[in-house]
Amino acid sequence: MDWPPQSVDLNPIEPIWVRSFTRAVIPQYSWAFSLNFPFPIQKSRPEATFCIQASFTLLSHVGCSNVTYLHRQSAMDTWYMDDSDEDQRLPHKLDPNQPVPLEDLEKIGVFYWRLNADIYENDPQLENIRKDRGYSFMDIITVHKDKLPNYEEKLKMFYEEHLHLDEEIRYILDGSGYFDVRNKDDRWIRIAMSKGDMITLPAGIYHRFTMDETNYAKAMRLFVGEPVWKAYNRPADDLEIRQKYLNSLKCASVM
Ligand SMILES: [Fe+2]
Repeated sequence: MDWPPQSVDLNPIEPIWVRSFTRAVIPQYSWAFSLNFPFPIQKSRPEATFCIQASFTLLSHVGCSNVTYLHRQSAMDTWYMDDSDEDQRLPHKLDPNQPVPLEDLEKIGVFYWRLNADIYENDPQLENIRKDRGYSFMDIITVHKDKLPNYEEKLKMFYEEHLHLDEEIRYILDGSGYFDVRNKDDRWIRIAMSKGDMITLPAGIYHRFTMDETNYAKAMRLFVGEPVWKAYNRPADDLEIRQKYLNSLKCASVM
């Protein structure tokens, strides 16, 4: 069976049965199914089929065949950003701070792992993730003024709000930095990443990256197949991948 499946052929099933089944089989991700099965599944309900496909997309994103490696307890800190124009390297927390739980990130397709960066060269846990998710490509980038050519220019580029046609996967091996992602209400969420943090951003999500005040980050970049780094700066709402992503959020909001 292809994964994710292109179409799902199901007989009518009571949604409660589906929820119970999926919670028993993959409890960590029951939210993804419960979001998308709020109504009886029928072949005559095209919106149901669409949402089933959207849920498979989300599940394929987290890799449901190897769910045990996704750590939900985070050292990572996340919060809603203020609107200040001050230095992008500052935290930009609201007063009082409004933290964002990991579950809220998962609902917009952002997933997190906590790994041991001291053993990244021979880490079986990282190998499992790469094998399971098909991350065949890997390189390491050091973001520092003495290490990265055209440092200032690159920083500006990283901080432009943009999206990609593919997942963006980053694993911080040393140092730290911030990923900012838009939530479904178009608010910025800041994700503070430090050594050992790994995240995936779904294709089609608006996001950006900046250094923090340490001005140093060493990160592993992973990709399925040959890497495509092309970024589409906002506005990119006409792109098919953007529409697919927005539709997956609509299904999630049925919860
Ligand atoms: Fe990006």
